[in-house]
Amino acid sequence: MDTCNRARRDARLDVLQSASGAVLALFLCIHLFLVASILLGEQTMYHVVKAMELGFLSADGLHGYPWVVSLIGLGVGALIALHAFIALRKFPQNGRQWRRLGHQLDTQAHGDTRLWVWQVATGFALFLLLPVHLWTMILQPEAIDPWRSGERVRDLGMIWVYAPLLLVADLHAMIGLYRLALKWFGPQPARRTLLRRLKTGFSLAFIGLGALSLLALWRVAPPDGSILYLTQSTMERPR
Ligand code: HEM
Repeated sequence: MDTCNRARRDARLDVLQSASGAVLALFLCIHLFLVASILLGEQTMYHVVKAMELGFLSADGLHGYPWVVSLIGLGVGALIALHAFIALRKFPQNGRQWRRLGHQLDTQAHGDTRLWVWQVATGFALFLLLPVHLWTMILQPEAIDPWRSGERVRDLGMIWVYAPLLLVADLHAMIGLYRLALKWFGPQPARRTLLRRLKTGFSLAFIGLGALSLLALWRVAPPDGSILYLTQSTMERPR
């Protein structure tokens, strides 16, 4: 492939990576708000879940179609795979390149290079943590509601996945958006400072919101075993 064609292909891949990253970051923000509906009460989250399953289209206006959630999960999974695959080409490819990066980090205090390294590290962590969550959502979409979600968080140990996932997903998304904004809208010093502040502010806000949601889910998890008595048509917390 000649240089001109290679440059054109790289430019296209760059746009694709930026666009897929922006869509995924937007998904994460909306997702955190949807889960945060638990902060407004168990019934609110239940109705939000049913709305995501398009329950309003069913005869009784409530029973949804959980496979819709599986489809969304598959779409998100495919987008993540594409995003990660394109990102791989920017990683150091051999020992020499890793050593050079290490040397640069040791000798130059360049904040944005450090942020790039954080993005690589959180990307790796996502690669390990996210499949556990995404597969559960794709394979058991009918098991999403305040009580079953609460049971997953408290009794099935998913808190140990969600707490670190919340941190790395959020940092990855916010650093990504910051870098995207610098790349496409220009790196003037005043803008850089403002964007950095926004990045830190939004990261803290989303991590706080996610942590509160996890606490609320933990709190509404029904007593041991009573989840067995919960049916999809029961909108009441099992006792
Ligand atoms: C269609 C795909 C997805 C669905 C349906 C979904 C749904 C949910 C639900 C219902 C919870 C509450 C806990 C539970 O029920 O186990 C949750 C928690 C969480 N999810 Fe997802 N999720 C999806 C994809 C993702 C992706 C792609 C990410 C990260 C990039 C993510 C990050 C999180 C985090 C960090 C939590 C912890 C709770 C919080 O802090 O709000 N999820 N998700």
